[in-house]
Amino acid sequence: MSEVLLQASDLHKRFGDLEVLKGVDLKIHKSEVVTLIGPSGSGKSTLLRCLNLLEIPNEGELVWNGEPLPYNRMTPAEICKHRARTGMVFQHFNLFPHRRVIENVMEGPLTVLGEARGEAETTAHQLLDRVGLADKAKAWPSELSGGQQQRVAIARALAMNPNVLLLDEVTSALDVELIAGVNDLLAELAREGMTMVVVTHDLSFARRVSHRVCFMDEGRIVERGPKDEVIENPQAERAREFMAALTS
Ligand SMILES: Nc1ncnc2c1ncn2[C@@H]1O[C@H](COP(=O)(O)OP(=O)(O)O)[C@@H](O)[C@H]1O
Ligand SMILES: [Mg+2]
Repeated sequence: MSEVLLQASDLHKRFGDLEVLKGVDLKIHKSEVVTLIGPSGSGKSTLLRCLNLLEIPNEGELVWNGEPLPYNRMTPAEICKHRARTGMVFQHFNLFPHRRVIENVMEGPLTVLGEARGEAETTAHQLLDRVGLADKAKAWPSELSGGQQQRVAIARALAMNPNVLLLDEVTSALDVELIAGVNDLLAELAREGMTMVVVTHDLSFARRVSHRVCFMDEGRIVERGPKDEVIENPQAERAREFMAALTS
C-alpha cells in the first residue's frame, strides 16, 4: 500500500451540545479512493468538512503527508492552503451564477493561488476540455444541465491542483441520465491516480471505482474494509440494514 496522504485519529466535532463526530479514525493513502456510506445525519459531510478544515475539529489528530496539522494554531493563510490542496465538491455545485463557466474555473487560481490571468485561463480551458465542456467556456452556469454544472465544479476544484478530492454526494441532485457523465469523469480521475474521498449512496459507483468503503453511523465509522466485503457482506447490523435498503 502506498503512503498515507491524510490521516484522522480519534476526531471529534461538536455543534453546541450535539456531538456529530464521536472519534473517527481514517487513513487515506495516495491514489486511493475511499467511499463513505451511511444514513443521513451520521456525520459524513461534517467529516469531509473537518478533513478540509472548513470545520475545525474539537479534538483528535489530523496528519497530512506525515506532518501533524495543528488546526487550532494554524493561521488563516495556512488553513486556506490546506483547503486548496483538499479540493471539495458539493452536492449543489455552488458555482457563481453571475460568472461565466471559465471565470468560475479561474476564480481560485486567480484569487487564492495568485496566478496570472493568462496562465489561469489556459489551465481553465484545458480543464474544461478534460471534463468534456470545452465548448461551454463562455456559457453562464444557468445555461448548463445539472450534470454539466457539476463537471464545471469538478474542473474548478482541479484548477487548484489538489492532492485529494473530497466529493460530497456530487450526483445526488442530478437526474438519473446525467449521473453517468459525472461518474465516468470520476472513474477516469481515479484511474489516473487521483486520491478521492467520496460520500455517496450510489453503490454501483462505489463498487466500480472505490478501493475501500467505510460505513458511518451516528458519528462513528462502524465498519470498514475492501469494497466487496463492506458492500456485499457487511457485518455490522446497521450496515446490513442500510445496504439492504439501498439495493432493494
Ligand atoms: N453547522 C452545523 N451546526 C449545527 N449542527 C450541524 C451543523 N452541521 C451539521 N450539523 C448536524 O450534524 C449532524 C450530522 O450532519 P452531517 O455531517 O451533515 O451528516 P450527513 O452528511 O451524514 O447527512 C446532523 O444532525 C446535522 O444536523
Ligand atoms: Mg451530508
